[in-house]
Amino acid sequence: MGFRKDFLWGGASAAHQFEGAWDVDGKGVSIADVMTAGDNVTHTPRRITDGVLEGEDYPNHVGIDFFHTYKEDIALFAEMGMKSFRTSIAWTRIFPNADDAEPNEAGLQFYDDLFDECHKYHIEPIVTLSHFEMPYHLAKEYGGFMNRKAIDFFVKFATACFKRYKDKVKYWMTFNEINNQADYIPHHLAQEGAILPKEGDDLEYMMYQSAHYELVASALAVKAAHEINPDMLVACMIGMNPVYPATCKPEDNMQAMMTMNFKYWFADVHVRGKYPSWLLKLFERRGWNMDITEEDNKALLAGTVDYIAFSYYMSFATEAKAENPHYEYRPGKDFVRNEYLKASDWGWQIDGLGLRFCLNWFNDRFGLPMLIVENGFGAYDKVEADGSIHDDYRIEYLKAHIEAMKGAVEDEGVDLLGYQMWAPIDIVSASTGEYDKRYGLIYVDMNNAGEGTWARSKKKSFYWYKKVIETNGEDLANE
Ligand code: BG6
Repeated sequence: MGFRKDFLWGGASAAHQFEGAWDVDGKGVSIADVMTAGDNVTHTPRRITDGVLEGEDYPNHVGIDFFHTYKEDIALFAEMGMKSFRTSIAWTRIFPNADDAEPNEAGLQFYDDLFDECHKYHIEPIVTLSHFEMPYHLAKEYGGFMNRKAIDFFVKFATACFKRYKDKVKYWMTFNEINNQADYIPHHLAQEGAILPKEGDDLEYMMYQSAHYELVASALAVKAAHEINPDMLVACMIGMNPVYPATCKPEDNMQAMMTMNFKYWFADVHVRGKYPSWLLKLFERRGWNMDITEEDNKALLAGTVDYIAFSYYMSFATEAKAENPHYEYRPGKDFVRNEYLKASDWGWQIDGLGLRFCLNWFNDRFGLPMLIVENGFGAYDKVEADGSIHDDYRIEYLKAHIEAMKGAVEDEGVDLLGYQMWAPIDIVSASTGEYDKRYGLIYVDMNNAGEGTWARSKKKSFYWYKKVIETNGEDLANE
């Protein structure tokens, strides 16, 4: 009973959200480097600027300066007992513009040093190749993944990483939350596909076409990884937030099922190497002339993934509407509030059991090993006069989710490799660009107003998670 002995307990982050050093040692500008800071209190969304502009506030330029503090920070992760640490390789540290002839040695060396530091403490590095940080040059000059050439640029980048780190990194992921763009909102198209849409563009079509090129790029990367070192395991990475029917009305149930299809078909292609029939029908219904070649289809089949990595934060509920006879997913139109769930200050509905649902959904559909690579609670933290931080809300959230995954392992027998909470240390929020939306077990003294010393301190959750890892998930009590 319980979790496997070598269960990969750990924490996850992404290069652009914490490394900072945006222009150090030859690093190029990424999409994240042209995204401004937002704010939940004033409802200020992030903006994407036309290049790096004077006078704008770009929080990812600084992150939490992990580029310079990684040794101290990893020592804290080790003190917590972390067995694994997920991060991404910033594409623009390796190929600053995407189309460079040779990789940047200084960038490659940084990750060599980082992975060595992890191994020093027996922490397994788990790596995402592309986590919302595509080269800005790729977006601006090539149209990002709307251009077939992006496939070659990505495969070249992936291959350089596989070759360099083949003896240091075993677990890989290609595109972080590749399915986030199912909503085809400009923010996600930029983060996922390096696409900067213009007024009047058909965003829905662009999403499907560019996602196809990304899926081919991912499949070619998987094949390359296996050729370089057959022991390396490569996953897809899905942002999994299940969609429930609002009622037991058959139409609502059908709507929920189809919404799951529309949001998670990316996993079908990654794992099965081919498109689901309903999606081919959608292309036909829209009258799109998709650029999907026979060679692409062969590549998809030859590069299916080894395991499924996914993030989980919340669940949604949806209802059917008569005006939507094909039960399509229509972003922003058919979701309803789930009255059984509470939400975070950012409106994310908290649903521990939903994680068990996801594990079973993936398991039944694909039967592959799984790795939870993100799960955590973004909240405002209060520092007491004595410097302590009592983040019981975060402990309660993590506890409920770990209990749910325990249920899926013990009762339903899902093959779960590990759990990486998001994030072991406070970092910049991806959606809002805030410092105040904190996920960390380690506090970083910096706020949205730019005030703070950058000092690190341990929250109550730090000690709690240490005990959870020590007991392999047996002792979850919050004392
Ligand atoms: C996931 C992303 O969507 O959610 C992370 O992979 C992100 O990059 C995390 O940070 C939490 O979202 P946010 O917007 O609160 O930082």
